[in-house]
Amino acid sequence: MKHQYKNMTIIVKNDYDNMGKKAARILAAQVTIKPNSILGLATGSTPEGMYKKLVKMYQKDEVDFSEVTTFNLDEYYPINASNKQSYAYYMQQHFFKYVNVKDEAINIPNSSMKDINLICENYEEKIRATGGIDLQILGIGNNGHIGFNEPDVHFESETHLVTLDEATIKANARFFDKSQNVPKLAISMGIRTIMQTKKIVLLASGANKAQIICDTITGVITPKVPASILQLHQDVVFILDKEAASKVMDRINH
Ligand code: PGA
Repeated sequence: MKHQYKNMTIIVKNDYDNMGKKAARILAAQVTIKPNSILGLATGSTPEGMYKKLVKMYQKDEVDFSEVTTFNLDEYYPINASNKQSYAYYMQQHFFKYVNVKDEAINIPNSSMKDINLICENYEEKIRATGGIDLQILGIGNNGHIGFNEPDVHFESETHLVTLDEATIKANARFFDKSQNVPKLAISMGIRTIMQTKKIVLLASGANKAQIICDTITGVITPKVPASILQLHQDVVFILDKEAASKVMDRINH
């Protein structure tokens, strides 16, 4: 089901699988229409199904990534790309090793470098030089973060170093032996970086995302809920499974 709320499109799918398939079809359509698309990519458990479907589509010759350029939203800091918990490793395992995105067209903040300012400036500069991101995929944290833009008193604009929230460390502990091993820092695209992308597709699945999705779409725009800024984006689509959509649908329909 497709709903319109203010300028936002909300697509509700029956389950996680169908959420991922819908996102994959949108991304593949983007690449078909514009083969040299600039894609903004996300990690986490939510987009895994989307990547799986995209790999299948690629194997069936339904999509060709040979001309795309990709920019990932964020990366822990410091971390080496070979570390299994890095987002560089995640992207290889879930997507890049199966498809034909060129190695030199893959961009993920280089968290093995010491100079943080240089990492951030280079990243912004590289995005700008491409002409900007055509399609940005986002997940959302239980605390409303997009990328690693954590709840704050102001919106951080450009790519920057982030101190991760306790809530994020707790949520991501499942990927590590213990929560003490979750890095405390990360490099993330900023809110302006994200807001400047031409089209945004945000995915959310599961009952634990229902409240934050409702706050994001219908609540006040505040840096305390970083994703709420998306209410001001000119082309944003939320693809939700039924559980993640439950509260926002109740709010909109009453
Ligand atoms: P998740 O993370 O997909 O693993 O829930 C989303 C996020 O933190 O942005």
